[in-house]
Amino acid sequence: MLTTHIRQGVHWVGYVDWNIRDFHSYDTHQGTTYNAYLILDERPALIDTVKAPYAAQLLHSIGSLIDPAQVQYIVCNHAEPDHSGALPELLRQMPAATVLCNKKCAAALAGHFDTGRWKIQLVGTGEQVSLGRRTLRFIDTPMVHWPESMCTYLPEEELLLSMDAFGQHFATSERFDDELPLDILLYEAKAYYANIIMPYGSAVAKALDALAGLSLRTIAPSHGVVWRSHVDKILAAYRDWAACRPAAKVLVLYDTMWESTAAMAEAIAQGASQPGVSVQLIHVRRTSLTRLATEVLDAACLALGSPALHREMMPAMAAALAYLQALRPPDRTALAFGSYGWGKGGADTIQQWIATMPWQVLREPIRCQYRPGKDTLEECRAAGRLLAERALAAAAASLQQT
Ligand code: FEO
Repeated sequence: MLTTHIRQGVHWVGYVDWNIRDFHSYDTHQGTTYNAYLILDERPALIDTVKAPYAAQLLHSIGSLIDPAQVQYIVCNHAEPDHSGALPELLRQMPAATVLCNKKCAAALAGHFDTGRWKIQLVGTGEQVSLGRRTLRFIDTPMVHWPESMCTYLPEEELLLSMDAFGQHFATSERFDDELPLDILLYEAKAYYANIIMPYGSAVAKALDALAGLSLRTIAPSHGVVWRSHVDKILAAYRDWAACRPAAKVLVLYDTMWESTAAMAEAIAQGASQPGVSVQLIHVRRTSLTRLATEVLDAACLALGSPALHREMMPAMAAALAYLQALRPPDRTALAFGSYGWGKGGADTIQQWIATMPWQVLREPIRCQYRPGKDTLEECRAAGRLLAERALAAAAASLQQT
């Protein structure tokens, strides 16, 4: 189906990218969609566009509803090229169209495209543009997740066009949240949040405050399905994620060379497996960074293990830590562990890295030379039990704050 009716006079005209598997390092194992929305009114408006290679498909979808040349406005909520890439071609086919965007977005667009001849009308929070029967109202949401990020609200339809916020990298033929299993959608929304938006939690909280006064019947993001039956659930989830609220969950992330660090990781996971505590054991070389970040979002405690390699750590663990440093989840408790042979590194290098994060260190690193013996494995189990205690306490404290 080229288009889908979303609300009265509002149609999805986006593009489903079924086979994309790498979205600038995001593991898009389910593909994605680039959502654009056409509002048919006295002055038709298009909300956002698609990646440049899919401009023709977007024009074809619009053309099934209206002559594209009749479009009067193109709202650019976000300048990232997966939503703005088709603008140059669209503006060639829509000579009457004015681009509506905020000042930072106009600057970002000028950095990407030759915008010299574009008609651009700057808008900002609280400003409105009438389409005739419907109104576009703009709400700046800076740093969710770029400086110019903005949402557009249609009060007559109680519809929020939310750009990346509330999105999911999820290619489907369905367009609505009640047409697919909710747990899958929430997991994909969580993955999206963790990998794209996690570092900007305070900005997200401000954006949620700005949206709190709106009557919201439908939220239509720029990726994935439209929320119409579970608006309350995705808003509540964003509140939790914005606060990086910890669950009683222990993640054991490790790499291993000759299975010694793997045995230590298993022992830590055994110790952490206490009633009420969720434990996950993740081999970082066999797991995408995307999934790893998704699990980190709500894990109260992390155990990070690597054997020594050339006095450092294994490269996959170094990549995982570099990614976590960028995402910077706050208030975790962490443990370093690992084996070594003829040279130190591994656990000690990880311990130094933990000290650079806004985290608590559980204890000194657990190290073993060559193979972990009975005592080392018991030390790992004891540390796992301590992590479980910390995770339960962090989750309980977080619940009290709600
Ligand atoms: Fe979907 Fe930040 O672009």
